[in-house]
Amino acid sequence: MKINAKDRLIIALDVSSWEEARSLVKKLKGVVSFFKIGIILHLMTGIDFIKEIIASGNKVFLDLKYFDVEDTIREAVENVSKMGVTFLTLHGTGKIIKAAVEGRGKSGLKLLAVTVLTSLEAQDIKDLGFECSVEDLVLFRAKKAAAAGCDGVIASGREAELIREKIGNKLLVVSPGIRRKTDTVDDHKRPATPTNAILGGADYLVVGRPIIKDKDPRQAAADIIKEMEIAFQKREKDS
Ligand code: C5P
Repeated sequence: MKINAKDRLIIALDVSSWEEARSLVKKLKGVVSFFKIGIILHLMTGIDFIKEIIASGNKVFLDLKYFDVEDTIREAVENVSKMGVTFLTLHGTGKIIKAAVEGRGKSGLKLLAVTVLTSLEAQDIKDLGFECSVEDLVLFRAKKAAAAGCDGVIASGREAELIREKIGNKLLVVSPGIRRKTDTVDDHKRPATPTNAILGGADYLVVGRPIIKDKDPRQAAADIIKEMEIAFQKREKDS
């Protein structure tokens, strides 16, 4: 089945007001239809903005990175599952992820477990108390997510290939920390280009600043989609 690159780009709406977020969605109309709402925006706009985005025919990725006791997670995820949201992120032990899977029940909500943030490098995970390589931790968490029935993982495009190689195709791989060769990397320590992430096996790319801070977000998104399209075609041809 041919992948439509346009459906695979998710814009991180990392702005602080309803007006800015609405203006970005308007500018990107017809080019992008999948938006990530995270902790910068969500508190300012709440559930009503999520409803507005969905009602106008777009998809929502709610990136609140849930991490809590199992009963809380189960109930919180059940609430999200009634809102028409497409993706939700969480951290977790196997038990936490299983509770989330129970919470979303038979709804269409897809759960994505965070592996290792793309802003972290070896010394940061040591700082968190993990004595292993970034790749080992990514793989450990991805395996755990798959075993617990999670739908996918958030992982750097750099580790997409490793996940595909060791775990296969049962997990969606959603990759943030995407930067074209010409972009500044900002706070990412493990960024990947759209091409490399897709050739490695990523299903969806999440892009914020390179698009939302561009003077022409619509053109920037279109340029990235073009690069994605070429990479998806190459991947399909080579498979
Ligand atoms: O602006 P930028 O493209 O770096 O935005 C990336 C987005 O993805 C941000 O909203 C950030 O919170 C999120 N992110 C993530 N996991 C990572 C890296 C970034 O959820 N590993």
